[in-house]
Amino acid sequence: MSEIAKIELEGKTYEFPVITGTENEKAIDISKLRDTTGYVTLDTGYKNTGATKSAITFLDGEKGILHYRGYPIEQLAEKATFIEVAYLLIYGALPTQAQLDSFSNSITKHTLVHEDMKQFFEAYPAKAHPMGVLASMVCSLSTFYPESLDPNRSAEAKDLTIHRLLAKLPTLAAWSYKNAMRHPFMYPKNEYDYCGNFLHMMFAMPTEDYKIDPVVVSALNKLLILHADHEQNCSTSTVRIVGSSQANLYATISAGISALWGPLHGGANQAVIEMLEKIHNDGGDVDKWVAKAKDKDDPFRLMGFGHRVYKNFDPRATIIKKACDDVLEKMGINDPMLEIAKKLEKVALEDEYFKARNLYPNVDFYSGIIYRALGIPTEMFTVMFALGRLPGWISQWKEMTENNEPIGRPRQIYTGATPRDYVEISKR
Ligand code: CMC
Repeated sequence: MSEIAKIELEGKTYEFPVITGTENEKAIDISKLRDTTGYVTLDTGYKNTGATKSAITFLDGEKGILHYRGYPIEQLAEKATFIEVAYLLIYGALPTQAQLDSFSNSITKHTLVHEDMKQFFEAYPAKAHPMGVLASMVCSLSTFYPESLDPNRSAEAKDLTIHRLLAKLPTLAAWSYKNAMRHPFMYPKNEYDYCGNFLHMMFAMPTEDYKIDPVVVSALNKLLILHADHEQNCSTSTVRIVGSSQANLYATISAGISALWGPLHGGANQAVIEMLEKIHNDGGDVDKWVAKAKDKDDPFRLMGFGHRVYKNFDPRATIIKKACDDVLEKMGINDPMLEIAKKLEKVALEDEYFKARNLYPNVDFYSGIIYRALGIPTEMFTVMFALGRLPGWISQWKEMTENNEPIGRPRQIYTGATPRDYVEISKR
């Protein structure tokens, strides 16, 4: 017999179905709550709200489990390439060799961006944050591809838009960096794979080729895979809600990039390095900064600690911590920030405040240190997160459009003034 949840309101009992997911996740389906009872639920920050049914990513925050389409993140990070994972997320299955070749070729074919877009870059000030540039450039793509404006035109048109976006994001990301440096843009090279091509556009100069280092490519692949999807969260839910209005994919992903930018979400990786530098420049007294993080009168928080859903450990942080040690060793890098990070992690993990609140290092605690080792500048860290998250956002958008989900439109509980009469300005 299927489970039923009962709610008692004003002496009446109402019944609501219980929905069970494939991993035994339970939810009370309250979609008829307002129609039958006149009540809505109140859940600021959506901490208990399932906004959709999704077959893409499974996450168990208590057990530290993360699966993409059923495959454990540990296996994907170890064995797959980012582009293979992108295919998996977007199309729902691991690709055959032929499918992968065709997908990779299509993406390689679309890596160039329209020459006119170069002028947009040049108009930004040199100090422009690359996330601001990236969000605007991605939205601007819609103006070059008007056929994308109707997201439901056909499956082929949808695929073309998806492939274009996946192909062009690394070009736009690398160019936002080149522009900030006031260096000439490097065009994509079809001989390189996805990660190699991005590194080439970031670091090659017209005067000097960039030597693609397999250690760097492998680390980048891993980082992008770890960020590729994370079920519902601030940026992904933004993507689903913007996409639900049937806005085009470029505008929708641009909104996701903006949502990711904040320091409580994807911007945390930049904030972590800035925090470590601050502690380093302040003499490296880790205890002092841990005390500040615990002080409720001090707004300082330990960046890279805590997570809305992971309450024991973040499986991505476990993988990345090891990758971080490997990369630094292979590249012969001795980074004082890593020493501070390790001290901070030790002190915080032994501290009652952090233990009681289940605050552990998250994926962003270590990703910044690897990005530094790879030569990526701090302001580009959140852009790197966006590159990784793109296939996840696209797959969530595709799923939502294919399931014909209705436009997102939450309710609220009004707490403002009750009706009152307008007062002439002279009498206020
Ligand atoms: N440093 C110190 N105290 C913290 C921290 C922290 N990093 N994170 C949470 N707390 C405390 C918080 O003050 C609160 O304490 P109390 O119960 O005494 O009021 C308690 O822990 C619960 O915090 P919360 O803000 O209610 O938790 P949340 O689930 O709303 O927030 C979070 C999650 C990630 C926004 C938060 O932990 C945070 O601000 N962390 C630092 C920023 C960060 O690293 N963000 C990246 C998240 S991972 C990347 C991604 O997926 O976006």
